[in-house]
Amino acid sequence: MSDAWREVDLYLAGKLLGDDPALDAALEANKAGGLPAIDVSPVQGKLLHLLARAAGARRILEIGTLGGYSTIWLARAVPEDGRVVTLEIDPHHAEVARANLDRAGIGGRVEIRVGPALDTLAALQAAGEAPFDLVFIDADKQNNANYVQAAIGLARPGALIIVDNVVREGRVLEAGSDDPMVQGTRRLFDMLASEPRLDATAIQTVGVKKWDGLVVALVR
Ligand SMILES: C[S@@+](CC[C@H](N)C(=O)[O-])C[C@H]1O[C@@H](n2cnc3c(N)ncnc32)[C@H](O)[C@@H]1O
Repeated sequence: MSDAWREVDLYLAGKLLGDDPALDAALEANKAGGLPAIDVSPVQGKLLHLLARAAGARRILEIGTLGGYSTIWLARAVPEDGRVVTLEIDPHHAEVARANLDRAGIGGRVEIRVGPALDTLAALQAAGEAPFDLVFIDADKQNNANYVQAAIGLARPGALIIVDNVVREGRVLEAGSDDPMVQGTRRLFDMLASEPRLDATAIQTVGVKKWDGLVVALVR
Protein backbone atom coordinates (compact mmCIF):
# COMPACT_ATOMS: atom_id res chain seq x y z
CA MET A 1 0.00 0.00 0.00
CA SER A 2 1.17 3.51 -0.66
CA ASP A 3 2.22 5.16 2.62
CA ALA A 4 0.83 8.41 1.24
CA TRP A 5 -2.66 6.90 0.83
CA ARG A 6 -2.56 5.79 4.44
CA GLU A 7 -1.22 9.09 5.76
CA VAL A 8 -3.85 11.06 3.86
CA ASP A 9 -6.61 8.79 5.16
CA LEU A 10 -5.40 9.36 8.73
CA TYR A 11 -5.23 13.12 8.12
CA LEU A 12 -8.78 13.19 6.72
CA ALA A 13 -10.15 11.08 9.56
CA GLY A 14 -8.34 13.26 12.11
CA LYS A 15 -9.87 16.42 10.66
CA LEU A 16 -13.39 15.21 9.90
CA LEU A 17 -14.29 12.30 12.19
CA GLY A 18 -12.92 13.06 15.65
CA ASP A 19 -12.64 10.61 18.53
CA ASP A 20 -15.19 7.82 18.61
CA PRO A 21 -14.82 5.53 21.63
CA ALA A 22 -17.67 3.20 20.56
CA LEU A 23 -16.13 2.53 17.16
CA ASP A 24 -12.65 2.16 18.68
CA ALA A 25 -14.07 -0.33 21.21
CA ALA A 26 -15.74 -2.30 18.41
CA LEU A 27 -12.44 -2.65 16.53
CA GLU A 28 -10.69 -3.69 19.76
CA ALA A 29 -13.36 -6.32 20.46
CA ASN A 30 -13.09 -7.60 16.89
CA LYS A 31 -9.34 -8.03 17.35
CA ALA A 32 -9.77 -9.71 20.72
CA GLY A 33 -12.36 -12.03 19.19
CA GLY A 34 -10.03 -13.03 16.36
CA LEU A 35 -12.11 -11.41 13.61
CA PRO A 36 -10.24 -10.38 10.45
CA ALA A 37 -9.61 -6.61 10.09
CA ILE A 38 -11.68 -6.28 6.93
CA ASP A 39 -14.15 -3.67 8.11
CA VAL A 40 -14.69 -0.52 6.05
CA SER A 41 -12.29 2.30 6.93
CA PRO A 42 -13.39 5.17 9.19
CA VAL A 43 -13.82 7.61 6.31
CA GLN A 44 -15.75 4.99 4.32
CA GLY A 45 -17.98 4.32 7.34
CA LYS A 46 -18.73 8.02 7.58
CA LEU A 47 -19.53 8.08 3.85
CA LEU A 48 -22.07 5.28 4.34
CA HIS A 49 -23.52 7.19 7.28
CA LEU A 50 -23.86 10.43 5.29
CA LEU A 51 -25.36 8.68 2.26
CA ALA A 52 -27.93 7.01 4.51
CA ARG A 53 -28.83 10.34 6.08
CA ALA A 54 -28.97 12.11 2.71
CA ALA A 55 -31.32 9.37 1.48
CA GLY A 56 -33.50 9.83 4.57
CA ALA A 57 -33.12 6.11 5.18
CA ARG A 58 -35.34 4.59 7.86
CA ARG A 59 -34.79 0.96 6.89
CA ILE A 60 -31.36 -0.31 5.91
CA LEU A 61 -30.29 -3.78 4.82
CA GLU A 62 -26.65 -4.82 5.19
CA ILE A 63 -25.17 -8.02 3.77
CA GLY A 64 -21.96 -8.90 5.66
CA THR A 65 -21.89 -7.80 9.32
CA LEU A 66 -18.47 -8.96 10.58
CA GLY A 67 -18.16 -7.20 13.98
CA GLY A 68 -20.72 -4.53 13.16
CA TYR A 69 -18.33 -1.64 12.47
CA SER A 70 -20.15 -0.50 9.33
CA THR A 71 -23.44 -1.45 11.00
CA ILE A 72 -22.80 1.08 13.77
CA TRP A 73 -22.21 3.84 11.20
CA LEU A 74 -25.42 2.88 9.37
CA ALA A 75 -27.54 2.46 12.50
CA ARG A 76 -26.52 5.93 13.69
CA ALA A 77 -28.07 7.32 10.50
CA VAL A 78 -31.58 5.96 11.01
CA PRO A 79 -34.08 7.47 13.46
CA GLU A 80 -34.68 5.73 16.79
CA ASP A 81 -37.67 3.87 15.38
CA GLY A 82 -35.71 2.98 12.24
CA ARG A 83 -34.23 -0.45 11.52
CA VAL A 84 -31.03 -1.98 10.25
CA VAL A 85 -31.24 -5.65 9.27
CA THR A 86 -27.76 -7.10 8.86
CA LEU A 87 -26.98 -10.57 7.49
CA GLU A 88 -24.01 -12.66 8.64
CA ILE A 89 -23.08 -16.28 8.02
CA ASP A 90 -20.68 -16.73 10.94
CA PRO A 91 -22.31 -17.08 14.39
CA HIS A 92 -19.12 -15.93 16.15
CA HIS A 93 -18.97 -12.75 14.05
CA ALA A 94 -22.64 -12.15 14.84
CA GLU A 95 -22.03 -12.60 18.56
CA VAL A 96 -19.14 -10.13 18.59
CA ALA A 97 -21.23 -7.72 16.52
CA ARG A 98 -24.18 -7.98 18.92
CA ALA A 99 -22.00 -6.94 21.84
CA ASN A 100 -20.42 -4.11 19.81
CA LEU A 101 -23.80 -2.76 18.70
CA ASP A 102 -25.24 -2.88 22.21
CA ARG A 103 -22.15 -1.18 23.64
CA ALA A 104 -22.48 1.54 21.01
CA GLY A 105 -26.04 2.23 22.20
CA ILE A 106 -27.79 1.46 18.92
CA GLY A 107 -28.38 -2.27 19.41
CA GLY A 108 -32.14 -1.79 19.69
CA ARG A 109 -32.31 -0.61 16.09
CA VAL A 110 -30.35 -3.55 14.67
CA GLU A 111 -31.45 -7.08 13.88
CA ILE A 112 -28.71 -9.59 13.00
CA ARG A 113 -29.85 -12.57 10.94
CA VAL A 114 -27.41 -15.46 11.01
CA GLY A 115 -27.08 -17.78 8.01
CA PRO A 116 -26.00 -17.78 4.37
CA ALA A 117 -27.24 -14.46 2.99
CA LEU A 118 -28.88 -16.06 -0.04
CA ASP A 119 -31.13 -17.94 2.40
CA THR A 120 -31.81 -15.03 4.75
CA LEU A 121 -32.54 -12.78 1.74
CA ALA A 122 -35.03 -15.33 0.41
CA ALA A 123 -36.66 -15.45 3.86
CA LEU A 124 -36.92 -11.65 3.96
CA GLN A 125 -38.56 -11.72 0.53
CA ALA A 126 -40.94 -14.52 1.53
CA ALA A 127 -41.94 -12.66 4.69
CA GLY A 128 -42.93 -9.63 2.61
CA GLU A 129 -40.81 -7.28 4.74
CA ALA A 130 -41.34 -3.55 4.26
CA PRO A 131 -38.98 -2.28 1.57
CA PHE A 132 -35.52 -0.96 2.39
CA ASP A 133 -34.26 2.55 1.63
CA LEU A 134 -30.58 1.59 1.39
CA VAL A 135 -28.75 -1.71 0.93
CA PHE A 136 -25.03 -2.10 1.69
CA ILE A 137 -23.42 -5.24 0.23
CA ASP A 138 -20.10 -6.34 1.75
CA ALA A 139 -19.99 -10.14 2.10
CA ASP A 140 -18.71 -12.96 -0.15
CA LYS A 141 -17.93 -11.22 -3.43
CA GLN A 142 -18.74 -14.33 -5.48
CA ASN A 143 -22.42 -13.70 -4.85
CA ASN A 144 -22.50 -9.95 -5.48
CA ALA A 145 -24.64 -10.19 -8.63
CA ASN A 146 -27.13 -12.41 -6.77
CA TYR A 147 -27.14 -10.03 -3.80
CA VAL A 148 -27.86 -7.03 -6.01
CA GLN A 149 -30.71 -8.90 -7.69
CA ALA A 150 -32.17 -9.77 -4.27
CA ALA A 151 -31.62 -6.19 -3.08
CA ILE A 152 -33.62 -4.80 -6.01
CA GLY A 153 -36.54 -6.99 -4.97
CA LEU A 154 -36.30 -5.79 -1.36
CA ALA A 155 -35.74 -2.08 -2.02
CA ARG A 156 -38.19 0.72 -2.72
CA PRO A 157 -37.94 2.75 -5.93
CA GLY A 158 -35.35 5.46 -5.29
CA ALA A 159 -33.39 3.30 -2.84
CA LEU A 160 -29.59 3.23 -2.89
CA ILE A 161 -27.62 0.01 -3.34
CA ILE A 162 -23.92 0.23 -2.44
CA VAL A 163 -21.45 -2.58 -3.14
CA ASP A 164 -17.97 -2.54 -1.59
CA ASN A 165 -14.64 -3.89 -2.92
CA VAL A 166 -15.38 -3.81 -6.64
CA VAL A 167 -11.93 -2.78 -7.94
CA ARG A 168 -9.67 -5.19 -6.02
CA GLU A 169 -6.41 -3.35 -6.75
CA GLY A 170 -7.25 -3.32 -10.44
CA ARG A 171 -7.74 -7.07 -10.68
CA VAL A 172 -11.32 -6.45 -11.85
CA LEU A 173 -9.76 -6.08 -15.32
CA GLU A 174 -8.45 -9.68 -15.31
CA ALA A 175 -11.03 -11.51 -17.41
CA GLY A 176 -9.11 -14.78 -17.11
CA SER A 177 -8.56 -14.60 -13.35
CA ASP A 178 -9.19 -17.79 -11.40
CA ASP A 179 -9.92 -15.73 -8.27
CA PRO A 180 -13.63 -16.32 -7.50
CA MET A 181 -13.87 -12.84 -5.98
CA VAL A 182 -12.63 -11.25 -9.22
CA GLN A 183 -14.97 -13.41 -11.25
CA GLY A 184 -17.85 -12.49 -8.93
CA THR A 185 -17.04 -8.81 -9.31
CA ARG A 186 -16.95 -9.10 -13.09
CA ARG A 187 -20.32 -10.90 -13.06
CA LEU A 188 -21.62 -8.00 -10.98
CA PHE A 189 -20.55 -5.45 -13.60
CA ASP A 190 -21.94 -7.58 -16.45
CA MET A 191 -25.25 -7.67 -14.63
CA LEU A 192 -25.21 -3.93 -13.83
CA ALA A 193 -24.45 -3.14 -17.47
CA SER A 194 -27.71 -4.74 -18.55
CA GLU A 195 -29.99 -4.20 -15.55
CA PRO A 196 -32.70 -1.71 -16.53
CA ARG A 197 -34.00 -1.34 -12.96
CA LEU A 198 -30.76 0.31 -11.75
CA ASP A 199 -28.89 3.50 -12.56
CA ALA A 200 -25.33 2.84 -11.38
CA THR A 201 -21.83 4.23 -11.17
CA ALA A 202 -18.59 3.02 -9.58
CA ILE A 203 -15.81 5.01 -7.93
CA GLN A 204 -12.22 3.90 -7.33
CA THR A 205 -10.86 4.58 -3.86
CA VAL A 206 -7.42 4.58 -2.20
CA GLY A 207 -6.60 4.79 1.49
CA VAL A 208 -5.93 2.47 4.42
CA LYS A 209 -7.88 -0.21 2.52
CA LYS A 210 -5.47 0.09 -0.43
CA TRP A 211 -6.80 0.53 -3.98
CA ASP A 212 -10.40 -0.56 -4.29
CA GLY A 213 -13.78 0.93 -5.08
CA LEU A 214 -17.50 0.89 -4.63
CA VAL A 215 -20.63 0.74 -6.73
CA VAL A 216 -23.41 3.18 -5.99
CA ALA A 217 -26.71 2.39 -7.71
CA LEU A 218 -30.16 3.91 -7.57
CA VAL A 219 -33.24 1.70 -7.94
CA ARG A 220 -35.41 3.24 -10.69
C1 LIG B 1 -15.89 -7.73 4.68
S1 LIG B 1 -16.71 -8.47 6.02
C2 LIG B 1 -17.96 -7.29 6.43
C3 LIG B 1 -17.39 -6.05 7.02
C4 LIG B 1 -18.43 -5.11 7.60
N1 LIG B 1 -19.41 -4.75 6.59
C5 LIG B 1 -17.75 -3.87 8.11
O1 LIG B 1 -17.36 -3.03 7.28
O2 LIG B 1 -17.61 -3.74 9.34
C6 LIG B 1 -17.63 -9.76 5.26
C7 LIG B 1 -18.53 -10.54 6.21
O3 LIG B 1 -19.43 -11.30 5.37
C8 LIG B 1 -19.63 -12.55 5.99
N2 LIG B 1 -20.06 -13.50 4.96
C9 LIG B 1 -19.30 -14.20 4.08
N3 LIG B 1 -20.05 -15.00 3.32
C10 LIG B 1 -21.33 -14.78 3.69
C11 LIG B 1 -22.57 -15.32 3.28
N4 LIG B 1 -22.65 -16.23 2.31
N5 LIG B 1 -23.68 -14.89 3.91
C12 LIG B 1 -23.62 -13.96 4.90
N6 LIG B 1 -22.46 -13.42 5.33
C13 LIG B 1 -21.34 -13.83 4.73
C14 LIG B 1 -18.26 -12.89 6.57
O4 LIG B 1 -18.40 -13.88 7.59
C15 LIG B 1 -17.80 -11.54 7.09
O5 LIG B 1 -18.16 -11.37 8.42
